[in-house]
Amino acid sequence: MLKIGHRGAKGYEPENTLVSFQKALDLRVNGIELDVHLSADGEIIVIHDETIDRTTNGKGFVNGLPLQELKAFLIEEKYEIPTLEEVFDLVNQKCFINIELKSHDATDKVVALIEKYVKKKGWKYDHFLVSSFDWNALQQVALLNSKIGIGVLTETDLDMALAFAETIQAKSIHPYFHLLTKENTANIQKKGFQIFPWTINEVEDIQKIKKYNVNGIITDFPDRI
Ligand code: G3P
Ligand code: CA
Repeated sequence: MLKIGHRGAKGYEPENTLVSFQKALDLRVNGIELDVHLSADGEIIVIHDETIDRTTNGKGFVNGLPLQELKAFLIEEKYEIPTLEEVFDLVNQKCFINIELKSHDATDKVVALIEKYVKKKGWKYDHFLVSSFDWNALQQVALLNSKIGIGVLTETDLDMALAFAETIQAKSIHPYFHLLTKENTANIQKKGFQIFPWTINEVEDIQKIKKYNVNGIITDFPDRI
């Protein structure tokens, strides 16, 4: 069962920061999950929200600020907002990276960056997974490069996610964990998809979902898996 650190190790360090990803690596995760948006000057920025208001000491939309200005605002007065490339370099093939596209605009650039790391830096396509609730963005990934693994996110409808995963030959389905039962988990796996539910933090919930034999668990507390 794969341990996937949500926004790094969000339970222990500020989400989507290099320290959070390093903490996840220290906890020996198999993968990390992170969120991306584009900056005003087209850099891929690792941040969950479309604004910097909640997580930094600044204000404004990520896509309204250039990288240099985004870097000037700090998370918990200490940490810079990382770019996706900075996270790739930190992780350096030690685990896989589940990149959640929060904005459709970032799709082409994320695909191009993955291709760069595979073709020029010796990474494997298995080091990457691209997930999103925006299924149009996932369709675009499939059209751009069929070698990139795709994870279909859903909060509400497992059947629709399964049908869509079949149309784009996705690698995995990432459901809100309350949607799962032992039966539907087995049924989806029989059709050839892996299941990575999110975001499971309570020990009791982790124990319950483990009994369904999911392929991995996305959690803020990777050491609880
Ligand atoms: O990847 C699953 C999970 O991260 C989706 O929800 O809001 O934490 O991005 P959220
Ligand atoms: Ca996410």
